[in-house]
Amino acid sequence: MAPLVWLITGCSSGLGQEFVKQILARGDKVIATARRLESIESLQNDGASTLRLDVTDEPEVINKAISEAIGIYGGIDVLVNNAGFIVQGAVEELSQDQLWAEFNTNFFGTVKVTQAVLPHFRQRRAGALVFVGSLSGWIGHPYVAAYAASKFAVEGMAESIKAETEGFGIRTLLVEPGRFRTNLLTLGNLTVTEPKISDYKEAASSMIQGLAKEDRAQPGNPVKLISVVLDFVRNEGVAEGRPPVFRLPLGTDCYEEVKKKCEETLENLEALKDITTSCDF
Ligand SMILES: NC(=O)c1ccc[n+]([C@@H]2O[C@H](COP(=O)([O-])OP(=O)(O)OC[C@H]3O[C@@H](n4cnc5c(N)ncnc54)[C@H](OP(=O)(O)O)[C@@H]3O)[C@@H](O)[C@H]2O)c1
Repeated sequence: MAPLVWLITGCSSGLGQEFVKQILARGDKVIATARRLESIESLQNDGASTLRLDVTDEPEVINKAISEAIGIYGGIDVLVNNAGFIVQGAVEELSQDQLWAEFNTNFFGTVKVTQAVLPHFRQRRAGALVFVGSLSGWIGHPYVAAYAASKFAVEGMAESIKAETEGFGIRTLLVEPGRFRTNLLTLGNLTVTEPKISDYKEAASSMIQGLAKEDRAQPGNPVKLISVVLDFVRNEGVAEGRPPVFRLPLGTDCYEEVKKKCEETLENLEALKDITTSCDF
């Protein structure tokens, strides 16, 4: 297999950084991007090309960065939309600015980078789009509604893009991690909303404490997660001999929670079938 060229967003830490390390280890080429170039200097020393890319920039700035990226190796084979963060807080206490910031990075950033890469993929009639979704794209846990909503939005967009572009030879992979040990819950990355409304105080405070306890103690191993994702993109390892996959849920917590939701959804659908199907002309 000829080496693939990957472009990853949000490579300063966590899954992004691990993607870069394992891609290089498999002999592929990678353009590691981050909003602060100095945060990915060490990846350059490891053999990655680096580029500044803040996914909240204007589309023109992002398009320019993607053109520059294409010029580095003469093309891009795989785009990984990885950049993201969590805004914590009860819906009633979230400001418009917080909601916008969450969607600006997790959803609109993902859309803008994907839109910038798609013409290149269509022209080549090839390419792989990888979206780092989440268990939170399936389940709206309390006090992380902004994050869940942004990841639900990514799920919907990824499903549509898959249907729109698979005829052009473009593959879409939606990775859905449960809780994995990265810096996602580290204060500073995680934006916490101190509860002011007394009704929410107790539950929201204990949720914040829970997140702090879970920071760097999550059950999921990012090294294993990235290895599986690389296998599925490169059709090797654990993916070998399996039919193509669109949704890739990862983590035991993800398996259990998604299964429960699917079962409840089917139960609800069947329980209401007579009513659901009674509203047609
Ligand atoms: N870890 C988990 O349990 C888990 C579960 C489900 C989904 N995910 C998803 O996995 C992805 C990676 O997160 P992680 O777990 O690796 O957490 P992380 O260690 O906090 O990494 C997040 C990365 O996103 C970058 N980023 C944030 N805003 C950005 C922007 N505007 N432009 C470019 N980069 C930006 C951060 O860069 P800076 O250093 O500049 O802030 C950082 O490199 C996220 O989309 C997250 O939602 C993670």
